[in-house]
Amino acid sequence: MRLLVLGGTQFLGRHVVSAALARGHDVATFTRGVSGPPPEGARALHGDRDDPGALPRALGEWAPELVVDTSAQSRAAARHAAAVLGGVRGYAFVSSLNAYRGWPPGPVGPEDGEHTWGTADDGYGPDKAYAERVIGASVGRAFLTARAGLVVGPYDYVHRLGWWLERIHRGGRVVVPAEGLAQPIALVDARDLAGWLVGMAEAGAGGAVNATGPAGMTTLGGLLDLCREITGSDAEWVPVPEADLLAAGVEEWVHLPLWLRQGVARTAWDVDTARARALGLPSRPLAATVADTWAWQQEDHRPRYSPNGLPRPGLPPDLEAALLSSR
Ligand SMILES: NC(=O)c1ccc[n+]([C@@H]2O[C@H](COP(=O)([O-])OP(=O)(O)OC[C@H]3O[C@@H](n4cnc5c(N)ncnc54)[C@H](OP(=O)(O)O)[C@@H]3O)[C@@H](O)[C@H]2O)c1
Repeated sequence: MRLLVLGGTQFLGRHVVSAALARGHDVATFTRGVSGPPPEGARALHGDRDDPGALPRALGEWAPELVVDTSAQSRAAARHAAAVLGGVRGYAFVSSLNAYRGWPPGPVGPEDGEHTWGTADDGYGPDKAYAERVIGASVGRAFLTARAGLVVGPYDYVHRLGWWLERIHRGGRVVVPAEGLAQPIALVDARDLAGWLVGMAEAGAGGAVNATGPAGMTTLGGLLDLCREITGSDAEWVPVPEADLLAAGVEEWVHLPLWLRQGVARTAWDVDTARARALGLPSRPLAATVADTWAWQQEDHRPRYSPNGLPRPGLPPDLEAALLSSR
């Protein structure tokens, strides 16, 4: 079928394109052309989602039957997609757990019981909730919104897991959050999510799905141990108590990626994914995700960046030195 990927040249979207091509679809991507080309085999259409005329101009006579939308970041982008793509047979939209008014800190129960942000609210989560409503109203029953949790894997330029891999690979004494090590966490491999999104669009599946790994699939410490094993590092963990991290100015999630203070972490990682599991969202072994991400990082030396104005993840060297010097 003719499958349009809105996005498709960076991370999750790139994997969506590869999955759709592997399943024999005629795939087109729609991007500004700033982030480079899509994987070979897809036709690259260009335009800005914020321009109301750009998508119909780029599509011309090529009428998509299926859509996977990884790139909606503004309300205008959502309205313009809704105006043009309402008649497709399946539309899988990539939203975020941030669409929920109560997350973080959560916890997040079954999709139907949770409230998303209202139209009057402002920011990343409210914009995702707005896009879900606007595109959902246009597409109807074949609109599926995947409220993604933490997405990791090869081509992840957001560089959260990537930062840990690089830091741990350098070895030596590595600051880790003392109480955070035992914290259960969950994440989803971009390739698992991508293939599943294509399948959901093909099936014309609808509704909201909390799209992340099973709650408690690992712990933060378990993930860091895997990073050490896979990078062949001699890194020694230096557990720093939460109170000391916060007093030193260490920012949760940003300076130590994936670390949240206990009061938030306990519930933020507690997400009900029963619907995702029932709909077949896979969760490959974490060791495969970490190994493949590390292999990609060693091949691809282009600069990492943080999309959408997010701060760059990682512990600033002076902060790390100060924390280590007293221990
Ligand atoms: N990473 C996470 O942990 C996480 C968690 C929850 C949800 N999400 C969501 O998952 C999605 C993942 O994004 P991704 O970066 O992996 O997807 P992607 O499709 O691989 O990359 C984003 C695409 O958007 C295009 N784009 C950006 N601005 C555009 C515009 N104004 N008009 C047209 N195209 C535009 C970019 O190409 P050009 O730059 O060339 O235009 C690029 O192809 C996002 O929607 C994000 O909100 C991510």
